[in-house]
Formats: sequence, structure tokens, C-alpha cells
Amino acid sequence: MNNQYLPLFLASCFFFISLSQTSSNTSSQHHCLPDQSAHLLQLRQEFDGVTCDTHSGEVIGLDLTNNQLNGPLKSNSSLFNLRYLQKLNLALNNFSSSATIPSEFGQLVRLMHLNLSYSFLHGRIPSKISWLSNLASLDLSFSYFEYFLRELYLGDVNISSSLPQSLANLSSLTSLSLSGCNLQGEFPLNIFLLPNIQSIDLSYNYKLVGFLPKFRFRSSLKKLHLRATNLFGEFPNPMDNLGSLNVLDPSKTNLFRELPNSISNLNLLIFNLSYNNFHGQLPFTLGNLKSLNYLNLDSSNFSGAIPPSIGNLSQLTHLFLVYNNFHEAQNELQTLDLSNNKIEGKIPKWFWNVGKETLGYQNLSFNLLSKFEHPPVVLPWKNMYLLDLSSNMLQESFPIPPFNSLVLSIRNNHFQGNLPETFINGCSLRTLDLNHNQIEGKIPRSLVKCQMLEVLNLGNNKLNNAFPFWLESLPELKILVLRVNGFHGPIWDPCINFGFSKLHVIDLSHNNFSGKLPSEYFQNWCAILKVTSNNKSHPGYMGDDSNYYKDSMTIVNKGVELELVKILTIFTAIDLSDNRFYGQIPDSVGNLKGLIVLNLSCNKFMSHIPSSLGNIIALESLDLSQNSLFGEIPQQLTSLTFLEYLNLSQNQLFCPIPQGGQFLTFQSSSFEGNFGLCGFQLLKKCGNNEIATSKMRHESSLGEGFCWKVVVIGYACGLVIGFLTRHVVTSKRTDWLVRNFGVNLRR
Ligand SMILES: *[C@@H]1O[C@H](CO)[C@@H](O)[C@H](O)[C@H]1NC(C)=O
Ligand SMILES: *[C@@H]1O[C@H](CO)[C@@H](O)[C@H](O)[C@H]1NC(C)=O
Ligand SMILES: *[C@@H]1O[C@H](CO)[C@@H](O)[C@H](O)[C@H]1NC(C)=O
Ligand SMILES: *[C@@H]1O[C@H](CO)[C@@H](O)[C@H](O)[C@H]1NC(C)=O
Ligand SMILES: *[C@@H]1O[C@H](CO)[C@@H](O)[C@H](O)[C@H]1NC(C)=O
Ligand SMILES: *[C@@H]1O[C@H](CO)[C@@H](O)[C@H](O)[C@H]1NC(C)=O
Ligand SMILES: *[C@@H]1O[C@H](CO)[C@@H](O)[C@H](O)[C@H]1NC(C)=O
Ligand SMILES: *[C@@H]1O[C@H](CO)[C@@H](O)[C@H](O)[C@H]1NC(C)=O
Ligand SMILES: *[C@@H]1O[C@H](CO)[C@@H](O)[C@H](O)[C@H]1NC(C)=O
Ligand SMILES: *[C@@H]1O[C@H](CO)[C@@H](O)[C@H](O)[C@H]1NC(C)=O
Ligand SMILES: *[C@@H]1O[C@H](CO)[C@@H](O)[C@H](O)[C@H]1NC(C)=O
Ligand SMILES: *[C@@H]1O[C@H](CO)[C@@H](O)[C@H](O)[C@H]1NC(C)=O
Repeated sequence: MNNQYLPLFLASCFFFISLSQTSSNTSSQHHCLPDQSAHLLQLRQEFDGVTCDTHSGEVIGLDLTNNQLNGPLKSNSSLFNLRYLQKLNLALNNFSSSATIPSEFGQLVRLMHLNLSYSFLHGRIPSKISWLSNLASLDLSFSYFEYFLRELYLGDVNISSSLPQSLANLSSLTSLSLSGCNLQGEFPLNIFLLPNIQSIDLSYNYKLVGFLPKFRFRSSLKKLHLRATNLFGEFPNPMDNLGSLNVLDPSKTNLFRELPNSISNLNLLIFNLSYNNFHGQLPFTLGNLKSLNYLNLDSSNFSGAIPPSIGNLSQLTHLFLVYNNFHEAQNELQTLDLSNNKIEGKIPKWFWNVGKETLGYQNLSFNLLSKFEHPPVVLPWKNMYLLDLSSNMLQESFPIPPFNSLVLSIRNNHFQGNLPETFINGCSLRTLDLNHNQIEGKIPRSLVKCQMLEVLNLGNNKLNNAFPFWLESLPELKILVLRVNGFHGPIWDPCINFGFSKLHVIDLSHNNFSGKLPSEYFQNWCAILKVTSNNKSHPGYMGDDSNYYKDSMTIVNKGVELELVKILTIFTAIDLSDNRFYGQIPDSVGNLKGLIVLNLSCNKFMSHIPSSLGNIIALESLDLSQNSLFGEIPQQLTSLTFLEYLNLSQNQLFCPIPQGGQFLTFQSSSFEGNFGLCGFQLLKKCGNNEIATSKMRHESSLGEGFCWKVVVIGYACGLVIGFLTRHVVTSKRTDWLVRNFGVNLRR
């Protein structure tokens, strides 16, 4: 006999029927539909002692148990015309003279229960049985089968008994799925050793016991799902045998106690060890599983250290480490980079013990971390210079930055509550980046002890107090971002005007700041004064002196959010937009010769545009829109040769738009909403009078505001002489930022 036609003795599977409302009624043929009655009559002729249960005219149940049916079950049997059958019991009959099991069983698609036990059927189980998608129970006990089955999927069929050892005679079987079949008793060990088997899914058979054998040499097994079974044993020695295995899921079992080092010889892609009860450590060879892209160690009771070779898993996209006991953790670890890994859930408590003495760089950014488990009062790492927890979903309590670290980035999380007042003398924090959280209250005053602080980014939080003037005494502060918070009150105090001598970038936009700025306001901002475009030939990036961290920040311009992934040391910006400042634009702004971006839009400034703006030779972007600025646009602005973006719209400016220089490239959007402006950029062209008057005013240094009358006249006369071809420019602004400052456009 061909190996592939070995007879099989199946101990517990065939279709048996349960029909809720049926009670045996042996005289109900007249309830059947006429055509189905005819089938039954034919069936009666085929076998002796046929009985049927009927309901609502359709034959949905048929119990022929122990009817002493004796003869072949043919493929054209009338049985297979009873398409409404939900329950069929052919147990205890003798069909041993049937040549095969008719594949027509597959047509009875409504079958929920099929019982062929003790029916002496034999031959192949037809693959069309897989059509019986409603099948809930199958009883094949004590029937003989020859098998040529490749795939057997009985997922969620309630088998409720043990599998016969003879299932291992299915030598052609490549795929066996018995998940959720309520299997009981011992799993036939030899099934693991079938010569062609590639996939075995036994998951969710809580009562299934058994153990893994030593696999056959060069096993073809690719997928092994053992989740939520009661199997036990040792981890199979994978050395030569399981080289094909890609997916191994023994989660929710107590199958293994230890992972051997030889695990590294597997070629796993998916390895799910969650919810196990391992005793001991992760093997140090784990990092050799180079193809691994899913590793779940959630609640697996591993202890000891995370092997540093995790860092070698370059394909890893999913890593779950929560709920373990990594206690005596890696003391030598210096660098831990688990960023961008989809690590989920809590930061486990063992984490606080990793490399207490040695760990310097720790990057857990871009994961799905949500909480700290048992956070210590002060972060424990003595030599930490960089902790990057940014872009997670961390919330609740706030970790206290280690006072000797240099960089702490927790941006893009959901931290709530107040910042702790725990910064102490000698704090050497260089960067504190808490952008995009939900932090409330005040900036802790003790931050002033961090005299090395260069970058403070508290943007996009819910901070709510007056301007922290004491920040001006941080001697190294270069970047200050408080944008989108609830800060309020003045930002100038006549008693405390040290100015920000090293400041390059200040972004106070979208707050509730108010008050006037005196004309000398910017006078001590020495850094912006000195940085000039001369330095552009050899620009560096902020944070260049640290090996790892490049400071980054986000600026928003006209609704476009731009992320500066690295900040050039020559980048300078002042953004006070969207507040309630009023009074004059300070003349001293003209001192800031190195200023590149100035945004004072959406305030209540009510003054002339200071002609000193023309001194800011480096200026590339100027936004004064949505204020109450009046008077003329100073002719001096035409000398700003780097100016690529200008917005003066929504003010009360008048007179002709100065011509020349970059002004020839700006479009109407730069000027619209100013009733009195005219020029080729606008629909309203300037008349002779306006031009003449403007010229005259410059020559005679007449007071500004003089031309107002003339403008009105010019407008009234409708004299249009200025006609120039519009200089077509695309919005260069973003190109410019990308080109000059390595910007990522976020939306
Ligand atoms: C299974 O195959 C073995 C030989 O490999 C044979 O001895 C045994 O009878 C077969 N079992 C059944 C139930 O067919
Ligand atoms: C069987 O069917 C007959 C005829 O419809 C009916 O009178 C009788 O009550 C039924 N018996 C049972 C047990 O349902
Ligand atoms: C089934 O086919 C056989 C011939 O193979 C024939 O003799 C028999 O009458 C057929 N039975 C039915 C119910 O059609
Ligand atoms: C079943 O029927 C066959 C003949 O068709 C006969 O040889 C065999 O003994 C029967 N088996 C039983 C258990 O009655
Ligand atoms: C199948 O029928 C036999 C004989 O009536 C019975 O002992 C067995 O319990 C049935 N199987 C199921 C799953 O109900
Ligand atoms: C499966 O069948 C067994 C025995 O028939 C029964 O006790 C159990 O409740 C069934 N399970 C489900 C989920 O139907
Ligand atoms: C890993 O196992 C856990 C527990 O059984 C399960 O919830 C999770 O879906 C599994 N992951 C995969 C990718 O199958
Ligand atoms: C977890 O592992 C440790 C040894 O590392 C062992 O002592 C402990 O019993 C395990 N936990 C459970 C619940 O078995
Ligand atoms: C990481 O892989 C490289 C090359 O494959 C190897 O030299 C190095 O030892 C591995 N590191 C660890 C910690 O296993
Ligand atoms: C801004 O401050 C004013 C009063 O100073 C207050 O009425 C207003 O609600 C504040 N706006 C916001 C958004 O906090
Ligand atoms: C820019 O140049 C000025 C003078 O040339 C110099 O004092 C300053 O340190 C330079 N700045 C940078 C950031 O290189
Ligand atoms: C942390 O890792 C992310 C993603 O891998 C990277 O973009 C970021 O620059 C790293 N952070 C630091 C501070 O090096």
C-alpha cells in the first residue's frame, strides 16, 4: 500500500447533528416538502430502517443511528440532496463496502453536526469537507480512513475529545489547524514528525496535554502555534532540525522553563513568548535572530539583563518587554537604543536598574510606551547624558531629570501635571525638551540652577503663568520656546532687563502675553546682533559639541508647521505672534543684524513700521500682518536683499508700496487688507499724485501721515499709471527653509 494511502483509524470526528426543536417523529413524512419527501422515499429504498426527523417542511435533521444500514454509501445517494440538513448521524452502521467517502458530503453546507462514528467508512476524507463552514461538531470515532489529505482545518469545530494517534498516519498532511477544537487528552506526538508538515495550529485547546518531541532532521515545519494549550516540556533542540521554523508562538503556556542559547540557530520572524513562566534569563544569543521582526516577552517572567544584542535586531519592528523581572540588569550597559520599536505598555520597573553606573545614552523614542511602573523619585542613572523618551504616549507622573544629564527629551507625550521643583545646584542639563505634552502650572524656578541650559522647549503645553523673567539669568540660553501655552502678562520689566545675551531663537507665539515693549527692548540681545550672514560659509548645528543629540524645534509660519530637525547655529528667530502686545514695535529691533525670522503678526502693535528694520541685513522672513500698523512702508526695507517672505497684510498702511529690490517679487498677499496702499502688486495702482507726494515727502522729510490725504485723492480720481508686469513668484518660503535650514515639512 502506498504510504500516502495508509488506512487511518480516527477516534473522534464525524458530523453529528443537533436540532433544537426536533423530537423524534417517525410518522412525519407528510411534513416534508414534496421533492424532499421523494428523496427520503428513495433513501428508504436504499437502506432499510430509515427514519427521519423533520421541521417546517425542510429536512434539517436525520438520525440514522444504528439502523443496521449495510451497503455502500454512493456519491449519487439521495442523502446528498437533503441540502438543508443541519444534523446528520450515521453512527453504528456498516458502510464498509463503500469504496470511498463521497465528497458530496461537502454539499451539505448547512451541516452543523456530523456523526460518522462506528460506521466503518474508510478511504480518504474528501477535502470538500472544508466547505462545511458551519460545522460545530464532528465525530469520526472508530471509522477507518485512507488518507490523502493535505490540509485539515477544523478551527472552532467542537471536537471535545482526544485525537487518535492514527492522525499521524496522514503522511501527506502539510497543514493542520485544530485551534479552539476543545481537544482533550494527549496530543499524538508523531504529528509533529509528519514528513510534510509545515504548519500546526493547536492554539486555544486548554485541555490538550502532551510535549514536544525531538524534531526530525530538517523538519519542514514553518509555523507552530501552541498558544493557550497545556503542553509542556523542554524547548526543542533546534540546532539542525527546525531551520525552517519562522513562526513560533508558545504564548500562554507553561511549555518551556528556559530558552537555550541554541535558539539563535532558528530563523524566526515571529517569536511570541508572552505569558509564560520562564525561570532565568534571556539567552545572550538572542541578538543573532537577525530576521526577527516580532518579539513578545510580555509577562514571561524573564529575569536578569536584557542582552545588549537586542540592539542587533535590525528587522525588529515590534518588541514587547512589559512585566518581566529584569532585575540584576546589565550593569555594563552604556547605550540603550530601543527607539522606533513599537514597544508597548508600561516602562517596567526593572528598567530603572539597567546600567545604573554606566548607562549614558538611552533612547526609547518613537514607541507606544504609556506609563512608568514604580518610577523612582529621581532617575537613577549617574552618568546619563541623554534620555530620549520623546514621541510615546507617556502620561501621569513626571520623571525627575537626573541633575547631571545633559539632554532630556520627553517631547510628544501626554504628560500631565506640574513640573517638579527638583533641579539642584550643579545641574548640568543642557537641553530640556518637553514640547507637546499637557504640562500645567509654572516653570519650576529651580531650573535656574541649570546654568548650562541652552535649549528650553516647553511649547504646546498648558503652562499658565507670567513670563519667567529669571530665565534671562541663564547665561547659555540659546533657544527658548514657550509657544502655545497660557502664559500672560508683560515680557518686559524695567527692573530686570538683562536681555538674552546668547539667545538665538525665541518663540512666544500663541500665548496671552501683553503690554508694551520699550524702544530699547532688544538692545542686549547680543548674539542675534553678532551672528551674521558672514558666518554662513561654515555653519554648524546646535548641539554639535555633543556626540549624539541634535536639537530640533518646530516653527510655524503662516499655518505651515516646519520642523527643523537640526538647528543651524546661525539660525535666529523672534516669534511673538498671536499675543496681545500693543504700542510701538521697538526701534532696537534694527540692532539685531543677524536676525533671520521676525514674526510679530496677530498683535495690537500700533505704530509706524520702524525704518530701522532696514538694518537687519540678514532678514529673510518678516511677518507684521494683522496689527494696527499705519503710515508708509519704509523705503529702507527694499535694501533687505535676503528678504524672501514678507507679510504686511491686514494693517492700516498707506501710500505707494516702495519699489525695488525684493519688493518686485512680492505678490498681493503680502500687502492686502491695507486700505491705503497702492502699487502694481495690488488691484489699486498708484496715481501720479501719490507718487509725487511720496517723493516730495521724502525730499522734504515731511511728517509721516502726510500722504494720507493725497492717497484718498488719488484713489478718488482713479488715476492709474503704474503698470508693471507682475513678477511671478511661487511661494519660495518653504523652499527657502528647506534649502537653508534642513527643515522637514510636517503638513
Ligand atoms: C498507521 O500506520 C502504521 C504504520 O506506519 C500502521 O501500523 C497503523 O496500522 C496505521 N494506523 C492506522 C489506524 O491506520
Ligand atoms: C408527529 O406528527 C404527528 C402528525 O403531525 C403529530 O400528530 C404528532 O403529535 C407528532 N408527534 C410528536 C411526538 O411530535
Ligand atoms: C446511482 O447510480 C447507480 C449507477 O452507478 C444507479 O444504479 C442508481 O440507480 C443510482 N441511484 C440514484 C438514486 O440515482
Ligand atoms: C460489514 O459489512 C461487511 C460486508 O459488507 C461484512 O463483511 C462485515 O463483517 C460487516 N461488519 C460488521 C462489523 O458487521
Ligand atoms: C455519535 O453517535 C454515537 C452513537 O449514537 C454516540 O455515542 C456519540 O456520542 C455521538 N457523538 C457525538 C459527538 O455526539
Ligand atoms: C463542546 O462539546 C462539549 C461536549 O459535547 C460540551 O460540553 C461543550 O460545552 C461544548 N463547547 C462549546 C464551546 O460548545
Ligand atoms: C502573542 O501572544 C499574545 C498572548 O497569547 C497574543 O495576545 C498576541 O496577539 C500574540 N501576538 C501575535 C503577533 O500573534
Ligand atoms: C519567575 O522566575 C524566578 C526566577 O527567575 C522564579 O524564582 C519565580 O518562581 C518565577 N515566577 C513564577 C511565578 O514562577
Ligand atoms: C552584533 O552583530 C555584529 C555583527 O553581526 C557582531 O559583531 C556583534 O558582536 C553583535 N553584537 C552583539 C552585542 O551581539
Ligand atoms: C487672556 O487674558 C485676558 C485678560 O488678561 C483674559 O480675559 C483672556 O481670557 C485670556 N485668554 C486666554 C486664552 O487665556
Ligand atoms: C559669527 O561671526 C562673528 C564675527 O565674524 C563671530 O564673532 C561669531 O562668533 C560667529 N558666530 C558663529 C556662530 O560662528
Ligand atoms: C532617538 O532615536 C530616534 C529614532 O531612532 C532618532 O530620530 C533620534 O534622533 C534619537 N534621539 C537622540 C537624542 O539621538
